[in-house]
Amino acid sequence: MSFGLGVIGCGSIGGVHAHAARRAGIRVVGAWDILPERATALALEHGGQTAPSIDALLAMAGIDAVAVAVPNDRHSECASKALRAGKHVLLEKPMAMNAAECDEILALAKNSAGQLQLGFVCRQSPAALVAKRWIDAGRMGEIYHIKASLYRRRGIPGLGGWFTTKKHSGGGPLIDLGVHVIDLALHLGGHRAVERVSGVTWSKFGHPIADYRYTSMWAGPPKLDGTCDVEDGATALIRCAGGLTIEVNVTWAANIPTGSTVDGISVWGSRGGVFFDIFGKDVSIAAEEAGMLVDIKPQFDAPNPTDQAWDEQYRHFALMVTKGKTPIATGAQGRSLQAVLDAIYQSAELNREVEL
Ligand SMILES: NC(=O)c1ccc[n+]([C@@H]2O[C@H](COP(=O)([O-])OP(=O)(O)OC[C@H]3O[C@@H](n4cnc5c(N)ncnc54)[C@H](O)[C@@H]3O)[C@@H](O)[C@H]2O)c1
Repeated sequence: MSFGLGVIGCGSIGGVHAHAARRAGIRVVGAWDILPERATALALEHGGQTAPSIDALLAMAGIDAVAVAVPNDRHSECASKALRAGKHVLLEKPMAMNAAECDEILALAKNSAGQLQLGFVCRQSPAALVAKRWIDAGRMGEIYHIKASLYRRRGIPGLGGWFTTKKHSGGGPLIDLGVHVIDLALHLGGHRAVERVSGVTWSKFGHPIADYRYTSMWAGPPKLDGTCDVEDGATALIRCAGGLTIEVNVTWAANIPTGSTVDGISVWGSRGGVFFDIFGKDVSIAAEEAGMLVDIKPQFDAPNPTDQAWDEQYRHFALMVTKGKTPIATGAQGRSLQAVLDAIYQSAELNREVEL
């Protein structure tokens, strides 16, 4: 199933792509980053050549597909170039900055020799796959509510850099973490149409940046002279067709007392419920069997849930590239989700519910 991959964007997650691709037997043929030293470092570690431009990367011999791992505001430009060049694309989340940009990508994908897969890697975690299997087995009854939560007490990524600058990221934890948990909720709920959303966002930390207390920082140390104009927390109620509701809670920073919140996805059905932490090693099931309330713990192998999820993502990507299989996470799903994110931001701004 081997093929040649180009990595576009060689920062924190670009390296994760290269590792996962190689574990799947995919050759890293080239790397491109606007910071050439990052592309060179990735090429040195994983093989392949440093490209002097994205066009040069796309023109390199042996590149069948690319992983797009650049800041959110560059997703559309990089994915579009790759699709125009007929390459298969694994596009990081969020699909783009807004639904209108997603439409542009989808229009190009329609006429490209390459297929598009979205980087909704959380769907492929061992716990998420077990939960999906239980749901698909019809053990839940009517699924009527899903709680989707990711809380960080102090976890603003790259404070002052592109993550916290709205024109580059599109927003804070809603578009960064919310995109994962809302995707999972929609996926487990059967991709029902979203009808209405109500959202609230907060921005209480990193003003000024120098006052922010933290223990670790994704994507490098705080940029003291940088920008922080996005939310650091968001909550939303999403109303879907058929009465399903999804409650979303995401924070990059909040004064959360230990033990007062739980990360993960909780799916409530009329005959059973499932809860899991996305990259955890357990799935908890509440059911009614033989007239009794019972707790069920499925047995499954999850020695390294994060790597396993990435391996599964690349296994599906390889099947798409080499066998023409349908992408496991489609552009259409990425676009629908982006419209939900857009509407939640709009609802927060207007201080009222928004219809889709
Ligand atoms: N799937 C996941 O769990 C996950 C985790 C983290 C990040 N992400 C996503 O991956 C993307 C990158 O995030 P990151 O944490 O790696 O950020 P990062 O800042 O660490 O890396 C981004 C890299 O892209 C480069 N870059 C910027 N503009 C470019 C361009 N036009 N062409 C080529 N390279 C360019 C930067 O120099 C940098 O090296 C984001 O969209 C983010 O949302 C996904």
